[in-house]
Amino acid sequence: MVAPAALPAAGLFYWVGALGALYAAALASYRLLAGLRVWVLGSGAAAVGPALGAWAVVTGATDGIGKAYAQELARRGMKVVLISRSKEKLDQVSTEIKEKYNVETKVIVADFGEKEIYNGIKAGLEGLEIGVLVNNVGMSYAYPEYFLDIPELEKTIDKMVNINIMSVCEMTRLVLPGMLERSKGIILNIASASGMCPTPLLTLYSATKAFVDYFSQGLHAEYKSKGIIVQSVLPYYVATKMSKIRKPTLDKPSPERYVRAALGTVGLQSQTNGYLPHALMGWVMSLLPTSTAINIIMKTNKQVRARYFKKMKEK
Ligand SMILES: NC(=O)c1ccc[n+]([C@@H]2O[C@H](COP(=O)([O-])OP(=O)(O)OC[C@H]3O[C@@H](n4cnc5c(N)ncnc54)[C@H](OP(=O)(O)O)[C@@H]3O)[C@@H](O)[C@H]2O)c1
Repeated sequence: MVAPAALPAAGLFYWVGALGALYAAALASYRLLAGLRVWVLGSGAAAVGPALGAWAVVTGATDGIGKAYAQELARRGMKVVLISRSKEKLDQVSTEIKEKYNVETKVIVADFGEKEIYNGIKAGLEGLEIGVLVNNVGMSYAYPEYFLDIPELEKTIDKMVNINIMSVCEMTRLVLPGMLERSKGIILNIASASGMCPTPLLTLYSATKAFVDYFSQGLHAEYKSKGIIVQSVLPYYVATKMSKIRKPTLDKPSPERYVRAALGTVGLQSQTNGYLPHALMGWVMSLLPTSTAINIIMKTNKQVRARYFKKMKEK
């Protein structure tokens, strides 16, 4: 028999439970509809092309995801500024783009690991009407490692902060004023899914990418009413030199496939995993308590680290 005093409490639990279930159902329906809009209909996506301004600027543009953005924006008729370290690779990609898409290109040699490059970049961008900035350049670890055991730790900290964080802030400082003058422009910041959850054994990388994500979301809120879109792009694995994945698969797409999908989300999502299978992975991860996700990632990265050392021993 239930004690009379327990009855109001049971009623309260009933209503809290019912409201909780209703809220969960409404949230799930909202997410499903929002997902359908982005991934199935694609309606309302921003036109990322020359109407925003004649030029696109891409950092880390000679390989992987950056090269794919440069090519896709050129295919859409934009002139492209390519920025990377190697003049030879820049000239090669520039020629490829000019021949294939019949657009003007410009190359700027710069090492984002250094701090003193931005006056040179500013001079190189002088007078260009820039509609799209892709802050893509990034560096990760050679293999997952405990923070204090990272080879050349002091140098790595400096380089990773300069390349992954400073480049995004400084390039934005140089390009955003011109966009604001024309009240239009899109800044695409390539963060990483590892910035969505603390990623042990890639801690520094993950933390720099979390910075990029927060910076992008904050900036988007500050400037969206002025006609500027800032998007935080958070990919899982893409088959590039950095990931050391040679053969693309459904969940580890080629950079070209990834970029085509990601550009379809601009204007619909200010924070995106960019590609449907990655969005599903992000959704599953978001259901886990953070501590569980961290434990799973730690275990996985320990295994990757062990495999790396085994391979090194065999060499
Ligand atoms: N691939 C993935 O699975 C993955 C996943 C999540 C996020 N991301 C992010 O996506 C972005 C692109 O990665 P990716 O995989 O496409 O890399 P990638 O294939 O290794 O290409 C990196 C590009 O950046 C340039 N670069 C590297 N260091 C540079 C420096 N210090 N200064 C100037 N340019 C530099 C490289 O050219 P040079 O060597 O000639 O300079 C190259 O063009 C990065 O921000 C990365 O963190 C990648």
